[in-house]
Amino acid sequence: MTTEIARAVAFLRAGELVAFPTETVYGLGADASQPSAVAKIFSAKGRPADHPVIVHIPDVSHVKHWAMDIPDSAYQLAEVFWPGPLTLILKRRPDVSDCLTGGQDTIGLRVPNHPVALELLKVFNGGIAAPSANRFGRISPTTAAHVRDELGNAVSLVLDGGPCDVGIESTILDLSRIKAEILRPGMISSSAIAQIPGIVMASSSAASGGIQGLVPRVSGSLESHYAPRTPLRLVTRENLKREQDEAFRRGERIAILAFEPVEKGDASVLWRKAPNDPEAYAHELYASLRELDTLNCASIIVQRVPVDSVWQAIDDRLHRAAAGTSARDA
Ligand code: TXA
Ligand code: MG
Repeated sequence: MTTEIARAVAFLRAGELVAFPTETVYGLGADASQPSAVAKIFSAKGRPADHPVIVHIPDVSHVKHWAMDIPDSAYQLAEVFWPGPLTLILKRRPDVSDCLTGGQDTIGLRVPNHPVALELLKVFNGGIAAPSANRFGRISPTTAAHVRDELGNAVSLVLDGGPCDVGIESTILDLSRIKAEILRPGMISSSAIAQIPGIVMASSSAASGGIQGLVPRVSGSLESHYAPRTPLRLVTRENLKREQDEAFRRGERIAILAFEPVEKGDASVLWRKAPNDPEAYAHELYASLRELDTLNCASIIVQRVPVDSVWQAIDDRLHRAAAGTSARDA
């Protein structure tokens, strides 16, 4: 891998894009200090230019190169959760480029917990701007193959670090205001964050369950994110049977992702058993949605997940996937 890392660093220094694995999802990286390189991220993804990107850094000592007025709580959180799936939003330094912040007065920073990402960052010894390596509005990639399928030639190099452990994007915590606020739920839960002494949490809508209807300060909070192409619906356990009966009556083939074991005997239903454990569910969620999306079914039916803080980030991604597909239907 060392020669691959050296090639990746050379591409980054030359202003080219390199996709790399993190513990959450694959990132589409560019040298954060070169605005022309960061601009290539936006065109490769087809992403609006006013959306800020997360800057990945090798360790907490780099925070001060990008942020100012850093609260003690940022260091406490970094101590506990970095490297790991937590992005901190902090006041940006005045010399930080607008192309990273979308013109906002804050910067998002994260130390990812993946050996390949950490080695890349250590050798690069600077900030790597990286959104998820998918086309805008589509499901984030959790394998190198997903990245190649979706972005192909737009990327100079894809570092392959195997499937991502966590499987869904980092928790985004805004520390730039008086009260800390979760802008995007992730597998580090609001209750884990609230354990840190000195953290005062705002009773934000994201932390308390739904972020619909808010003006998005993060692109990930747009409803239509993370959507497969096949229409996706969330249903209760009781309604799984009804969905099957209706699909049968219409002569349609449907895919079902459910906690219940596979139902026998109906060839028109492609049934996938979902893991009961939230970590395992998150780990395979995007790969499963991508796979179910290739089966040419009339719809993907997903059984609702439990209402519980450990399932909140997964529930959030499923609602967005459902909203994204119905928005396109409409
Ligand atoms: O797990 C992750 O966070 C992955 C991996 C690659 O690190 N990255 C990721 O990036 O999900 P992206 O760009 O797909 O989603 C990051 C979200 C976006 O919605 C962006 O708008 C928001 O973070 N964001 C970045 N900087 C911000 C800032 N300064 N203020 C508010 N939101 C910000
Ligand atoms: Mg993304």
